[in-house]
Amino acid sequence: MKLIVAGATGLVGSEIIRQALRNSYVTEVIALARKPVVIDDSSASKLKSVVIRDYAEYPDEVKAELAGADACIWTVAVTPFRSAGFDFAEVKRVCQDCTLAGFKGIYEAGPARPFRFLYFSAEGTPQDPSQRPFILGDYQVMRCETENMVRKFPTQYGGTEVCIAHPGVVTNSTTWLRLLLASTFSVVNLFTRALPNVSRDELAAAVLNQAIHGFDKETLSNNDLVRIGQSTL
Ligand SMILES: NC(=O)c1ccc[n+]([C@@H]2O[C@H](COP(=O)([O-])OP(=O)(O)OC[C@H]3O[C@@H](n4cnc5c(N)ncnc54)[C@H](OP(=O)(O)O)[C@@H]3O)[C@@H](O)[C@H]2O)c1
Repeated sequence: MKLIVAGATGLVGSEIIRQALRNSYVTEVIALARKPVVIDDSSASKLKSVVIRDYAEYPDEVKAELAGADACIWTVAVTPFRSAGFDFAEVKRVCQDCTLAGFKGIYEAGPARPFRFLYFSAEGTPQDPSQRPFILGDYQVMRCETENMVRKFPTQYGGTEVCIAHPGVVTNSTTWLRLLLASTFSVVNLFTRALPNVSRDELAAAVLNQAIHGFDKETLSNNDLVRIGQSTL
């Protein structure tokens, strides 16, 4: 299968690329990003790095690379942690307008049928835009509206299937601080997963599984992602 990973240079996107290159079901990986993605090992023969200036713009030469895709995993977003450094209009543009532009760009390029689009959101995103949370209210409502926009794609664009991933905190060991947090979560998880979290490798394995084999549900909770990720790895 031909898989597009949008946001290929991000924390989650880079792990999805790493696992996709080792997955025998995946024959071609399109790493869509603002910077080149370079992997220098034998798995890289399946990789095509496609650099775009902006996730809102899909020139013909980019569409030519996206054509015929079986699935796309869309990880592009300004995360809540980083959103403080941007105007809200720009955060919304990246999170919402670019998701629509990216989906349309791939659709116009001519995907395979069915074409699976897996969109990353987060656990705790309200499911009703009128339920504005006290913390990060505008951001959370915007992510809720983006999810609702994505859920309508199959009725608007024939031959498409969508899924929304709701990870909690994504634990990883890319820095000492993150390793410390991941270690703390792994101990706490022995007793409770009341604070939703999923390791980066489990999360990547779960979404890859779903993009390859089909979506179990329209919305995958953190617990679903942990379960699918652990059984896949
Ligand atoms: N990390 C977590 O703990 C966590 C938890 C729950 C949900 N999620 C969700 O999972 C998804 C992926 O998260 P992540 O942790 O991988 O985030 P990340 O490392 O910040 O990567 C996000 C991607 O979005 C792109 N991006 C960020 N800001 C941008 C901007 N201003 N303009 C254009 N592109 C921009 C990045 O591109 P560049 O690499 O070029 O900057 C990157 O490819 C997001 O939807 C996030 O909300 C993450």
